[in-house]
Amino acid sequence: MEKSPASVKALKIELDKAKDEALLIGFFQNKLGLGTELRRLDNKIGNLIASYIKNNNFKGEKGEIKNIFVNKGIKNIVLAGLGEEEKYGFEVLSSTIADASKRLRDNGIESFSIFLDSFNNGKFKDEEVVEKITLSSLIGLYKFVEYKTKDKDKTKNIKEIRIITNLNKKFDKEIEYASMVADAVNRTRDLVNTPPNIASPSYVAEYARGIAKKLNLKCTIFDDKQIGKLKMGCFMGVAMGSINKPRMVVLEYYGNGKKQKPIAIVGKGVTFDSGGLNLKPYPFILNMKDDKGGAVAAMHIIEACAKLKLPVNIVAVTPLCENMPSGTSFRPDDVLKAYNGMTVEIKNTDAEGRLILADALAYAAEMKPQAIIDIATLTGASLIVLGYAGTPFVCTNDGLRKKLNDASAKSLEKLWELPLWQEYEESLKSDIADVKHIGDEGEAGVITGAMFLKNFVNDIPWAHIDIGTTVWSKIDKGMLTKGATGATVRLMMEMLMEWK
Ligand code: BES
Ligand code: ZN
Ligand code: ZN
Repeated sequence: MEKSPASVKALKIELDKAKDEALLIGFFQNKLGLGTELRRLDNKIGNLIASYIKNNNFKGEKGEIKNIFVNKGIKNIVLAGLGEEEKYGFEVLSSTIADASKRLRDNGIESFSIFLDSFNNGKFKDEEVVEKITLSSLIGLYKFVEYKTKDKDKTKNIKEIRIITNLNKKFDKEIEYASMVADAVNRTRDLVNTPPNIASPSYVAEYARGIAKKLNLKCTIFDDKQIGKLKMGCFMGVAMGSINKPRMVVLEYYGNGKKQKPIAIVGKGVTFDSGGLNLKPYPFILNMKDDKGGAVAAMHIIEACAKLKLPVNIVAVTPLCENMPSGTSFRPDDVLKAYNGMTVEIKNTDAEGRLILADALAYAAEMKPQAIIDIATLTGASLIVLGYAGTPFVCTNDGLRKKLNDASAKSLEKLWELPLWQEYEESLKSDIADVKHIGDEGEAGVITGAMFLKNFVNDIPWAHIDIGTTVWSKIDKGMLTKGATGATVRLMMEMLMEWK
């Protein structure tokens, strides 16, 4: 990929000495006075800011972005509204920085500065503000241009972002961490956005091998014959309909000696989900390349952990296949035998994710990890429960639940837990096999999907994160860019940074 992401730097400098194409300053609504540093700068530029505000051109409302052309050292002063101060937090900070970064890029600017003090009203640690500024600008600026051939050289790109402060602090660590996480998010988006005719199971597996080579991770790739030999009957069943053969990728990172039990991250990797014989109709078949989002996230999470040398052991297990209709497809009414020996009656070939995960989870459980977390675009029903705002999850363990909820709050990736009540087990009873893989009426879709998966994790502390909705964005706003979102990467990194 020829595009390179912007580089973020912290720069200790007096505000009125700053030189750049643009300077971004945050203001709270109804608090539009200029502090000492800003006043000094404003004096130097003929009080343009004060008179702009006095003339009511800018009110500081959330989402408001105004540009004053200055052309003295600083070319443009950009005023960003932060809304009411009482409601200010990292969420407003992040969306403001992301939106402003997008706007500046689209205006053809290649470098801009951010006045750090104006984004911290004294309630937050400067280190955290710097981290969030770095993350949100780099994630907000994401664009997928790989397949654009026309006017490629005209693609607008921010090259440098300078966080300006006169504090006597270094923010190198925060910027390095946040840049690494942003890179993991954006490369997850790149691979999830890669079209399904390119990103086949073998392509994604070779991509994982590339990650492993660079970082010296252990990488095991099973091909279709080996998957058959392992008797992963559910996985094989789903993969059978496609000419593109399946792969199972196991990546291992030991950052904490070989003694500590690993954390297993299992990711659904359906490179295209047509629904199989239960073919998805248009428009529901669109964007189904995103059905590999869990696997691709898992790969970049383990990669980022290795790059940051986190003191944890992680194994990423990612079953990769394509769900296609053909003469060799599996069928509704088939009975498949899972890797753990359970028999599964198939009712709908479009509920394929839980089948490939069944075998991957059972395989991961054999490694006796301290916890298993699966990430999967499992259901459309996730849209019904939480809409686009958040991601539903289930969990069988208090400690793990707390870790996930804490990481969710910190990362701003909203999670909400759903219950695993006994009643839901009823829906999965089969007349002829050990279990069915779906309920009869599609009731409590996210939970019944999870309930099915629970059969394959033994008693190991387990969480299942259903990114069916949040893996993809229909809008270009704030940290979101149309297309893949990189869901769970920030969340999981936040959790693994703190793992004890
Ligand atoms: N990959 C889909 C889930 C999905 C659908 C994700 C739409 C994002 C957008 C999954 O394999 C699927 O098709 N699930 C079915 C299950 C049903 C047949 C029980 C669903 O949710 O409709
Ligand atoms: Zn499906
Ligand atoms: Zn699917």
